Amino acid sequence: MATFHHLLLIIALILLSSSSYISTKELEEEEEAAINRFKEYLRFKTAHPDPNYTAPVSFLINQAESIGLQSKTLEFVPGKPVLLLTWPGSNPSLPCILFNSHLDSVPAEPDKWSHPPFSAFHSSDTGNIFARGAQDDKCISIQYLEAIRNLKLVKNFEPIRTVHVLYVPDEEIGGFDGMAKFVESSEFRELNVGFFMDEGQASTSDEFRVFYADRSPWHLIIKADGAPAHGSRMFDNSASENLMKSIEMITRFRDAQFDVVKAGKAANSEVISVNPVYLKSGIPSPTGFVMNMQPSEAEAGFDIRLPPTVDPDLVKRRIAEEWAPATRNMTYQIIEKGPIRDYQGRPLMTLTNDSNPWWPVFKYAITSAGGKLQKPEILASTTDARYMRQLGIPTFGFSPMSDTPILLHDHNEFLNDRVFLRGIEVYESVIRSLSSFVEPSH
Ligand SMILES: *[C@@H]1O[C@H](CO)[C@@H](O)[C@H](O)[C@H]1NC(C)=O
Ligand SMILES: *[C@@H]1O[C@H](CO)[C@@H](O)[C@H](O)[C@H]1NC(C)=O
Ligand SMILES: *[C@@H]1O[C@H](CO)[C@@H](O)[C@H](O)[C@H]1NC(C)=O
Ligand SMILES: [Zn+2]
Repeated sequence: MATFHHLLLIIALILLSSSSYISTKELEEEEEAAINRFKEYLRFKTAHPDPNYTAPVSFLINQAESIGLQSKTLEFVPGKPVLLLTWPGSNPSLPCILFNSHLDSVPAEPDKWSHPPFSAFHSSDTGNIFARGAQDDKCISIQYLEAIRNLKLVKNFEPIRTVHVLYVPDEEIGGFDGMAKFVESSEFRELNVGFFMDEGQASTSDEFRVFYADRSPWHLIIKADGAPAHGSRMFDNSASENLMKSIEMITRFRDAQFDVVKAGKAANSEVISVNPVYLKSGIPSPTGFVMNMQPSEAEAGFDIRLPPTVDPDLVKRRIAEEWAPATRNMTYQIIEKGPIRDYQGRPLMTLTNDSNPWWPVFKYAITSAGGKLQKPEILASTTDARYMRQLGIPTFGFSPMSDTPILLHDHNEFLNDRVFLRGIEVYESVIRSLSSFVEPSH
């Protein structure tokens, strides 16, 4: 009997070691293949001002075919494709989940980079992969697909809800020919989206970041009029004087907002930012400006960002009454670069408490993958997520990059290969949890 037991034990050990040996090797090969697909995608030149989306979209369609996903290309504006991939769920009557990334990137200045920005240079010392778009946001574009590849082909997982992956053009220039057009289409309405995931940002700590809102950008232009006069004359209400009064008030407001941040009472993205971007006045001369004339017009431009927690009407009233009042011979123009309230007039943000049934599911998906989450944040800038939140669709911004310097739009943007692979595991958990989530009926 003892020998028989021994024999069994030895067979078991052989099986165990050989299978784990093979699977480790296979795993390494799969990981290398995933990294190579990421690098291949990073080499497509989709930087503004002239992104060419043809080749990357063909690449993604090929990937989708190799995984067995359905694909559909929509073109609302010529040369600006929107690619929709579909993994049908077993219960297509439930609202689907949609994972989004944008195809484009901001430009790069090659001479300021240590490696060419579209070469996807992979350092053998550090494992860092350098490319424009490595963090923003080509990482998630490929991680979604790799996670689905593993779930579908290796783990034989079957989603209950339908899972879609979306690739949109032109996010970096406002998404007007991309996501904005897509959400107005019948193809989008037919999807019945229940939950939306979009890009987030790198975290320098070991905790991932999640974003529940974007700030809404406004461009404010204020103009002052006044009587022109000789440069030597002192008089009240010149155009320059009227504009300077405004600038003083705006500066005081900006300081008050910034003081809250400096005192540690709010994050940068939780206050209203007002930053001067241009000043325009004076009468040009061949060598500069006419110096003995006070101009009859003066103008200034500001970039304003509003968190969803503020009342935009109060800011508008402040502009009309204090920053550019008609009583000071001033006019103004506010260019709202996107919505700030949803279709029901609610603040454009996704709840991160139990009122939002997707929140605990998402949180659980992260922790069950061994990850940690920082306190949910408002994104200081803007993404295409706003178009979904405007429709009242719960949306989180999330890119699983921990222990990574924040290099979006910066020189030498990179992502470490281990961080990239870890992100695939995290998305496997996220896709598994979200697509299996069946809301309890009340
Ligand atoms: C975009 O790239 C494709 C090949 O990838 C090429 O055939 C096409 O001419 C390019 N379009 C433009 C406008 O350069
Ligand atoms: C506004 O313009 C009018 C007409 O030019 C001028 O009489 C008045 O003083 C100006 N008021 C202020 C506050 O600038
Ligand atoms: C969730 O947060 C919202 C907004 O802050 C609040 O109105 C709501 O009562 C909260 N719900 C729960 C269950 O805490
Ligand atoms: Zn981005």
